[in-house]
This record gives sequence, C-alpha cells and structure tokens, in this order.
Amino acid sequence: MLRHIRKRMWRDVLNLAIINTMSEEQLYQEMQRLRQELHFHNYRYYVLDAPLISDGEYDRMLARLREIETQHPEWVVPDSPTQRVGGSPAEKFLKVSHPVSILSLANAFDLQDVQAWYERLLRLDERVAATDFVIEPKIDGLTVVLHYRNGLFVQGATRGDGEEGEDITANLRTVRSLPLRIPVDASSPPPPSYLVVRGEVFITIEDFEALNKRLLEAGEKTYLNPRNTAAGSLRQLDPAITATRPLMLLAYSIVAADGDIPQTQWETLQYLKALGFPVTSLAERWADIQSVLFACEKWQQRRGKFDFEADGVVIKINDLRLAADLGVVGKDPRGAVALKFPALEVTTILRDIGVNVGRTGVLTPYAILEPVEIGGVVVKQATLHNFDFIAEKDIRIGDRVLVKRAGDVIPYVIGPVVDARRGDEKSYVPPSVCPACQQPVEHFEGEVAWYCVNAACPAQLVRNVEHFVSRTAMDIVGLGLRIVEQLIEAGLVKDVADLYTLQRSDLLELEGFAEKKADNLLNAIEASKSQPLERLIIALGIRGVGEVMAADLARRYRDLDALGSATFEELQQIEGIGPNIAQAIVDWFARPANRALLEKLKRCGLWPVSGAEKYLEEGGKPLEGLTFVVTGTLSNYSREEVKELIRSKGGKVTDSVSKKTSYLVVGEDAGSKLDKARELGVATLDEDGLMRLIHERSGLA
Ligand code: IVH
Repeated sequence: MLRHIRKRMWRDVLNLAIINTMSEEQLYQEMQRLRQELHFHNYRYYVLDAPLISDGEYDRMLARLREIETQHPEWVVPDSPTQRVGGSPAEKFLKVSHPVSILSLANAFDLQDVQAWYERLLRLDERVAATDFVIEPKIDGLTVVLHYRNGLFVQGATRGDGEEGEDITANLRTVRSLPLRIPVDASSPPPPSYLVVRGEVFITIEDFEALNKRLLEAGEKTYLNPRNTAAGSLRQLDPAITATRPLMLLAYSIVAADGDIPQTQWETLQYLKALGFPVTSLAERWADIQSVLFACEKWQQRRGKFDFEADGVVIKINDLRLAADLGVVGKDPRGAVALKFPALEVTTILRDIGVNVGRTGVLTPYAILEPVEIGGVVVKQATLHNFDFIAEKDIRIGDRVLVKRAGDVIPYVIGPVVDARRGDEKSYVPPSVCPACQQPVEHFEGEVAWYCVNAACPAQLVRNVEHFVSRTAMDIVGLGLRIVEQLIEAGLVKDVADLYTLQRSDLLELEGFAEKKADNLLNAIEASKSQPLERLIIALGIRGVGEVMAADLARRYRDLDALGSATFEELQQIEGIGPNIAQAIVDWFARPANRALLEKLKRCGLWPVSGAEKYLEEGGKPLEGLTFVVTGTLSNYSREEVKELIRSKGGKVTDSVSKKTSYLVVGEDAGSKLDKARELGVATLDEDGLMRLIHERSGLA
C-alpha cells in the first residue's frame, strides 16, 4: 500500500516536470482547482445538505475536469471526483486485515440492563463515577473501515469477522458523502498522515422503498429491508451498480491514527465533522447515568421519526482513554453498550397460508405463523397482501419468513429468508374456488385481486353483516363477529335486512342466549332504525363510498330511492366523486339482488329520509303556535338561516326572551338572553334539539 502511494507521489513530481509549456502548467493548475472545488461542493451537497452552487454549475465543472483528464490521462488520480465510478467489475473481493480488531457491541434490552452495565463498570474502575457519556443512534447498516493516507482515501473494507474484512474500496468511492480527500475544506488543519475511520453505510427508508419499487418494475430481485439493501449494494462486484444505489455514510469513530487525535468521543465526532466526514447530528452528551437513562427513554419514543432505520442507541463512555482501559469482553468493548429497541422485524416459520373472503368477495391470503413475539405482542397471523405478492417473493409453506409489525398496521410478511431453506418447503398454489362456498373464483382484467363472485357466499355475508352493524355504519352494539356467525349458521340471517325481522324466540334457541341478551340485541337493532340516511349509505358498503362521501350523498339525496335513480353523469357532478365511484354506485343500485334488499329494508321500516330536503319538501307547519328566540353562534347554520327555518315551519321568531317565549335556541357564547331564559324558566334548545323538535312535531319520528 505504501509503495502504491509513493509511486503516485513520484508520478505527480514527474508530471510537473514534463509540463514544459506555460499553458500546460496553467491547465494542470486549473485541473487541481477544479478537483478541490468539486470535492468541496460535493461535500456541501451530500454531507451538509447545503449546496452553494446549482447542479448545472457542478456538472459543468465536472465536465471540464473530465475534458482535461481525457487530454491528459496520465494526470488521472484515484481521488479525482471523476473517479467515483472508475473501478471495473471485480471477480471477487480481496481480503483486508484490519489494523486493530474491529469490535462489536454488547446489547442491553432495557434500561435496567443499561443501569447494570454502568454498575459493573463502576466496580471495575472508580473513574467511571466521574465520566460523562455520549448517546448516538445505532444505525442499522453495515460497518465500514476507511483508510486515509496523507488525506487520501486509499482503502475501504467491510468489518468481516472483525480481524479481516473485504476490500470494497471501488464501491465505497461511489458513496457520495464519503470524502475522497480530507480535509474537504482546505482551510482546516491537516489530519494525521495515517487515519482509519469507522462508520456505518446505510440507506434511508424512503430511498429503500423507492429502490425496491424500481427493482420490482425492472423485474429484478427486491431487498428485504434497508440494512439488507445497504449490504447487498456494497457487496456488488460491479461498482457501477453500487453507484446507482443511494448509499449514505455516517462516521463515528477513529480506529487508528499516527498523530494526535481527540481524547473523547464527543470531540471525535466534532473532529470527524471538521475533516469533512458526515457525522450524525443527533448525538447527545450527558453528564451522568441518570440523564442517560432518561434520554434513552426519549430515544425510544422518537424511534419511528428518523428517516433511517435505527435499531437502538449506542451509549458510549465519553473519555476514550478510560473506555480503552476498561478493556474488552470477547469482541465487545466494555466502554460502550447498545440499547436495542424492541425488534419490529422478526423471523418465524410460515406454517400455512389461509385465505380470507372480504365483503366485496376479494380473496386475501394470510400467513399462519409459528407464534412469535414482535415488539411485545404475540403474532400468529400476518397479511400476505395478495396472491401476486406470494408468487413474486416466491414464498413457500415451511419457509422461514421475515415478519414486520410497526405502528398501527396489521403485521405483514416481508419475504422469505431464502438462505434458511432446507428443501422441504412447498410452493403455494392459490385456490381456484372460494374457500367458503367452493364456487369458482374470478380475476378481472387489470386488477391483482381474485374475487368470489357468488352473491350468496356465506363468508361474504359474514363480512357484509359485520360491516353493516359496525360502529361507523348502523352501530348495532352487542352484535359481534361471533354472533353474526351464529345467526348466519343458524340460517336466521341471509341478508342484512333479516336482522330486522329477528324474533326473540329465534335468538333464544341460539347457544349462549338468555332472555336479557336477546332483548338487548333486539333493542339495539330496533334503535338502529333511527340512524340517519348517511349511516345506512355507509352500511350498504358500496365500493369507494366512505363516511365523508356518504354524508355528501345524504345531503344531496332524500332517500335511497333518490340516490338509486341518480345517473352516472349526475353523480360525477358531486365534489369528490370520480368516474370509478360514480360507476360503483350506479352498479350497486342496478344489481337486482340489491334492489330486492332495499325493498326488504323498506318493508322492515328501515328507510331513513335525509334532513334538509325533508323539511323543505314536506311543507307542513310543525312549529305553528310556538315562539322562538335565537341567540349565540350556531354551528351548522347562521342565525338568520335558523330563523328562516323556524318561520318556514310556521314558528314565530322574536328578539327578546319573555314569558311567552316557547324556546330559546342557543349556540356558543350565548349571553344575557340565556340568563333571562333561565330566570323565566324558558326551555332551551341547541341546533340539534331544534331539528329533533321539528322532526317530532312533523310526526316523522
Ligand atoms: S460503536 C467499539 N456507534 O452497531 C465501537 N456502532 O452492534 C463499536 N453501529 O458493528 C461500535 N451505529 O455496525 C457504534 N453510532 C454507532 C453505531 C454503531 C451503528 C453498528 C456497528 C456495530 C454494531 C454493533
């Protein structure tokens, strides 16, 4: 290696010697200046994320440098900004011995473990009592060891077994935030002539997702997670491929140096930063273990907010001399510990694949797993998205699969761990018939989903009823999945309208039903009849029609007959309704089975009529003989609109409260009128109360 460098230094001297004309000398100077500026602007862009020049200017400078280097290939050096993708594909990676062991880290799984780590250290060395600490994110990437000689990046290696790694220099050159020459800012003091830096190469979650999408579209193999992507990208034999991967670097320690280097971890981070290395901006320094423990708790809460995958935090003794003196246990230095966040990705065995039939007949495969704990919850099932996903990932029954549970989402299978295959795993064949009704399944052009199109499919019926009675739809309390299944199994419910003709005696026949339970259920069903139209629209489960749209439709149409006769064109006039949803609505009402269902609902007395329209249409004078005063800020209508409504319904509106006032309609911030009404014992109503009053007196309730 040294020989290599000496050779290059000699070459530089020779080069200068053979530059005999003034213009050549100038060209050489220009090239040197371009290189330095390009290094600097690359740093501003990729490390500081604060570019000073436009991409166009950068590209022009780079093009000019290329031009000069093409004229003078003998001037090309490996750290030239043109050489980031200079290497040619390798046959295999060469082994590199590390200058010192590249250590690992002991894990702590909770705050007690961290406390115990600290107490152990305290018993070993009393200086520990006075030390401070640095906390850094534990980035889930790949360790790299970077060698610099006289400021030049000369070699980069993987960690390997800690003693020997692989030479991935050409690939690392393509990592744009990795400085090819330090210090990047020429005004900084020069680094030691020999410096070995350790860091982590990784990919952000966003870039990972974008890359996988790109790979999928190109029909190539996708990666399981960001870590796996960083590792796979760095271990490409062709650096040109690595260059297309948005890899990032964060440097965090100095492994070896032949000059003065900082004595604390905190200063090391500042120092690396000053040299031009990308360094985390999230590091924290804390004076004592209590603060550290408190800070760790905060880190755990912040976990999901980073744009990279962090699997924990690293707590380091700040005093590097003390840390070194504390020694090593196996491959773990005593002076640092990794507090791992609960894993959100875990592998387990895929025992079988089940298939769910959804409300609309969509078949969804799900994984039946060997139970496994993920982030404090035992997971036995996880979604497999759709059948194409299983095929694309080549997921086989018996495979060890990677499962993720994050946030509120349902656990899902990421993919198989192909290396763990033993050979007896079985490929999966999607069902050709519905698992619930055994009718053939269908696939529609341009969609990934497979459907059971049998309208009488019991599984769909269960989902349908489940949706119909759910909280945002008809909100029938006490009608859980188990009871829905019971009702369907017993043949009592063949469609949602049958709920409204259930008899007490029918229910009492069912297992687990006593009189009280039966009565409660019947009452809840009965009560649902007064749900407003928008709830019933939601309950019908028309594809694409959610809460907001149902409310819009209910405002516009008087009842389901009116909605059912709306045309495709008319529906599209409504804000938020595009051709797909308009078509879904028209189709729903066109289906004879649905028409029959609506008739049945009407006969059962479930036929809500929407608010606004109803009052206008019915034209009666339900408020005749009553006197109203309106005060305060109302929420749905202006005061004038409410007064108008009262008048149109035959009521009288006055300005001041008296004994003759029948009702005071009050909104927010009602003032003296409310006091007066209380004083005189005049009844008050809010906006909803007024609507109910009109409703009741119209004889509609
Ligand atoms: S310090 C002796 N700091 O975690 C120093 N490691 O489980 C030991 N890692 O192999 C490493 N971020 O790949 C350190 N800020 C950080 C880190 C970090 C990620 C990785 C590193 C190491 C692994 C240990």
